[in-house]
Amino acid sequence: MKSIIIHTLSPSETKELGIKIGRLCKAGDVIALDGDLGAGKTCLIQGLAKGLGVSKKSYVRSPTFTILNVHNGRVPLYHFDLYRLSDLDELEEIGYREYIYGEGVSAIEWASNVEEAIPAECLRIAIKRVGEDEREIEITSKGAKYEGRFLKEWV
Ligand SMILES: Nc1ncnc2c1ncn2[C@@H]1O[C@H](COP(=O)(O)OP(=O)(O)O)[C@@H](O)[C@H]1O
Ligand SMILES: [Mg+2]
Repeated sequence: MKSIIIHTLSPSETKELGIKIGRLCKAGDVIALDGDLGAGKTCLIQGLAKGLGVSKKSYVRSPTFTILNVHNGRVPLYHFDLYRLSDLDELEEIGYREYIYGEGVSAIEWASNVEEAIPAECLRIAIKRVGEDEREIEITSKGAKYEGRFLKEWV
Protein backbone atom coordinates (compact mmCIF):
# COMPACT_ATOMS: atom_id res chain seq x y z
CA MET A 1 0.00 0.00 0.00
CA LYS A 2 1.40 3.34 -1.09
CA SER A 3 -0.08 6.81 -1.04
CA ILE A 4 0.55 10.09 -2.72
CA ILE A 5 -1.07 13.43 -2.12
CA ILE A 6 -1.82 15.82 -4.93
CA HIS A 7 -3.22 19.33 -4.60
CA THR A 8 -5.38 20.73 -7.35
CA LEU A 9 -6.32 24.38 -7.62
CA SER A 10 -9.27 24.21 -10.00
CA PRO A 11 -11.92 21.79 -11.29
CA SER A 12 -9.99 21.48 -14.55
CA GLU A 13 -6.87 20.36 -12.68
CA THR A 14 -8.89 17.69 -10.92
CA LYS A 15 -10.39 16.62 -14.22
CA GLU A 16 -6.90 16.49 -15.73
CA LEU A 17 -5.82 14.17 -12.93
CA GLY A 18 -8.86 12.02 -13.72
CA ILE A 19 -7.84 11.90 -17.38
CA LYS A 20 -4.36 10.66 -16.44
CA ILE A 21 -5.87 7.96 -14.23
CA GLY A 22 -8.36 7.00 -16.93
CA ARG A 23 -5.61 6.56 -19.50
CA LEU A 24 -3.86 4.10 -17.21
CA CYS A 25 -6.99 2.12 -16.36
CA LYS A 26 -7.53 -1.44 -17.48
CA ALA A 27 -10.55 -3.71 -17.54
CA GLY A 28 -11.33 -4.95 -14.05
CA ASP A 29 -9.96 -1.91 -12.22
CA VAL A 30 -11.86 -0.57 -9.22
CA ILE A 31 -11.46 3.08 -8.24
CA ALA A 32 -13.08 3.79 -4.84
CA LEU A 33 -13.66 7.45 -4.06
CA ASP A 34 -14.56 9.26 -0.86
CA GLY A 35 -14.99 12.87 0.15
CA ASP A 36 -17.79 15.19 1.24
CA LEU A 37 -20.48 16.51 -1.04
CA GLY A 38 -18.86 18.96 -3.43
CA ALA A 39 -15.36 17.62 -2.84
CA GLY A 40 -14.86 16.79 -6.52
CA LYS A 41 -15.46 13.06 -6.90
CA THR A 42 -17.76 13.45 -9.89
CA CYS A 43 -15.40 16.01 -11.40
CA LEU A 44 -12.50 13.54 -11.21
CA ILE A 45 -14.64 10.76 -12.68
CA GLN A 46 -15.61 13.02 -15.59
CA GLY A 47 -11.91 13.20 -16.38
CA LEU A 48 -11.52 9.49 -15.85
CA ALA A 49 -14.31 8.87 -18.37
CA LYS A 50 -12.49 11.06 -20.86
CA GLY A 51 -9.24 9.19 -20.26
CA LEU A 52 -11.12 5.97 -20.95
CA GLY A 53 -12.34 7.32 -24.26
CA VAL A 54 -15.96 7.76 -23.25
CA SER A 55 -17.78 10.12 -25.58
CA LYS A 56 -20.64 12.34 -24.45
CA LYS A 57 -23.07 10.28 -26.51
CA SER A 58 -22.29 7.05 -24.76
CA TYR A 59 -23.70 8.24 -21.46
CA VAL A 60 -26.45 5.86 -20.41
CA ARG A 61 -28.52 6.75 -17.39
CA SER A 62 -30.42 3.72 -16.31
CA PRO A 63 -33.89 4.68 -15.05
CA THR A 64 -34.02 1.75 -12.66
CA PHE A 65 -30.44 1.74 -11.45
CA THR A 66 -30.00 5.31 -10.31
CA ILE A 67 -26.99 4.31 -8.29
CA LEU A 68 -25.23 3.07 -11.43
CA ASN A 69 -24.59 4.66 -14.79
CA VAL A 70 -22.81 2.82 -17.56
CA HIS A 71 -20.66 4.53 -20.17
CA ASN A 72 -19.03 2.95 -23.17
CA GLY A 73 -15.39 3.77 -23.67
CA ARG A 74 -12.27 1.83 -24.60
CA VAL A 75 -13.57 -0.41 -21.83
CA PRO A 76 -16.96 0.13 -20.15
CA LEU A 77 -17.10 2.56 -17.25
CA TYR A 78 -19.41 1.64 -14.39
CA HIS A 79 -20.02 4.80 -12.43
CA PHE A 80 -21.57 4.07 -9.03
CA ASP A 81 -22.86 6.76 -6.68
CA LEU A 82 -23.55 5.26 -3.28
CA TYR A 83 -24.48 8.52 -1.55
CA ARG A 84 -27.90 7.36 -0.45
CA LEU A 85 -26.81 3.84 0.29
CA SER A 86 -26.04 2.54 3.73
CA ASP A 87 -26.47 -1.20 3.34
CA LEU A 88 -25.76 -3.85 0.75
CA ASP A 89 -29.34 -4.73 -0.24
CA GLU A 90 -29.80 -2.16 -2.97
CA LEU A 91 -26.43 -3.05 -4.43
CA GLU A 92 -27.29 -6.75 -4.30
CA GLU A 93 -30.49 -5.98 -6.25
CA ILE A 94 -28.57 -4.65 -9.21
CA GLY A 95 -26.09 -7.52 -9.08
CA TYR A 96 -23.16 -5.22 -8.42
CA ARG A 97 -20.60 -8.03 -8.44
CA GLU A 98 -21.21 -8.55 -12.15
CA TYR A 99 -19.90 -5.03 -12.62
CA ILE A 100 -17.23 -4.66 -9.97
CA TYR A 101 -15.69 -8.04 -10.77
CA GLY A 102 -16.47 -7.73 -14.47
CA GLU A 103 -14.65 -6.51 -17.53
CA GLY A 104 -15.10 -2.79 -17.09
CA VAL A 105 -13.63 -0.08 -14.91
CA SER A 106 -15.70 0.69 -11.80
CA ALA A 107 -15.56 4.17 -10.30
CA ILE A 108 -17.43 4.23 -6.99
CA GLU A 109 -18.41 7.48 -5.24
CA TRP A 110 -19.00 7.23 -1.48
CA ALA A 111 -17.26 3.85 -1.38
CA SER A 112 -16.97 3.93 2.41
CA ASN A 113 -20.79 3.92 2.73
CA VAL A 114 -20.76 0.27 1.77
CA GLU A 115 -17.23 -0.75 2.58
CA GLU A 116 -18.04 -4.46 2.52
CA ALA A 117 -18.84 -4.22 -1.20
CA ILE A 118 -15.45 -2.75 -2.08
CA PRO A 119 -12.77 -5.23 -3.13
CA ALA A 120 -9.71 -5.36 -0.88
CA GLU A 121 -7.58 -4.55 -3.92
CA CYS A 122 -8.47 -1.22 -5.47
CA LEU A 123 -7.27 2.31 -6.01
CA ARG A 124 -8.59 4.53 -3.20
CA ILE A 125 -9.03 8.23 -3.76
CA ALA A 126 -9.90 10.55 -0.89
CA ILE A 127 -10.69 14.16 -1.75
CA LYS A 128 -10.74 16.99 0.77
CA ARG A 129 -11.81 20.55 0.23
CA VAL A 130 -9.07 22.76 1.61
CA GLY A 131 -10.23 26.04 0.08
CA GLU A 132 -12.75 27.47 -2.32
CA ASP A 133 -10.96 25.94 -5.30
CA GLU A 134 -8.22 23.90 -3.67
CA ARG A 135 -8.53 20.18 -3.13
CA GLU A 136 -6.24 17.69 -1.42
CA ILE A 137 -6.42 14.39 -3.26
CA GLU A 138 -4.91 11.34 -1.64
CA ILE A 139 -4.42 8.36 -3.91
CA THR A 140 -3.68 5.02 -2.28
CA SER A 141 -2.88 1.80 -4.09
CA LYS A 142 -4.26 -1.27 -2.41
CA GLY A 143 -2.73 -4.21 -4.21
CA ALA A 144 0.34 -4.62 -6.35
CA LYS A 145 -1.40 -4.17 -9.68
CA TYR A 146 -2.46 -0.65 -8.73
CA GLU A 147 0.82 0.33 -7.16
CA GLY A 148 2.81 -0.67 -10.21
CA ARG A 149 0.59 1.15 -12.64
CA PHE A 150 -0.54 4.26 -10.83
CA LEU A 151 2.02 5.12 -8.20
CA LYS A 152 5.45 3.80 -9.05
CA GLU A 153 6.59 6.21 -11.70
CA TRP A 154 3.58 8.36 -12.15
CA VAL A 155 2.88 11.70 -10.42
N1 LIG B 1 -9.95 21.88 -7.38
C1 LIG B 1 -11.22 21.48 -7.60
N2 LIG B 1 -11.46 20.20 -7.97
C2 LIG B 1 -12.71 19.77 -8.16
N3 LIG B 1 -13.83 20.51 -8.01
C3 LIG B 1 -13.65 21.79 -7.64
C4 LIG B 1 -12.35 22.33 -7.43
N4 LIG B 1 -12.48 23.63 -7.07
C5 LIG B 1 -13.80 23.88 -7.08
N5 LIG B 1 -14.52 22.79 -7.42
C6 LIG B 1 -15.99 22.73 -7.48
O1 LIG B 1 -16.42 21.80 -6.50
C7 LIG B 1 -17.56 21.08 -6.99
C8 LIG B 1 -17.26 19.59 -7.02
O2 LIG B 1 -18.45 18.95 -7.34
P1 LIG B 1 -18.55 17.39 -7.59
O3 LIG B 1 -17.45 16.93 -8.47
O4 LIG B 1 -19.94 17.13 -8.04
O5 LIG B 1 -18.32 16.83 -6.11
P2 LIG B 1 -18.76 15.44 -5.47
O6 LIG B 1 -19.03 14.47 -6.57
O7 LIG B 1 -17.57 15.05 -4.62
O8 LIG B 1 -19.96 15.74 -4.62
C9 LIG B 1 -17.88 21.63 -8.36
O9 LIG B 1 -18.85 22.63 -8.23
C10 LIG B 1 -16.54 22.22 -8.80
O10 LIG B 1 -16.70 23.29 -9.71
MG1 LIG C 1 -20.73 13.28 -6.95
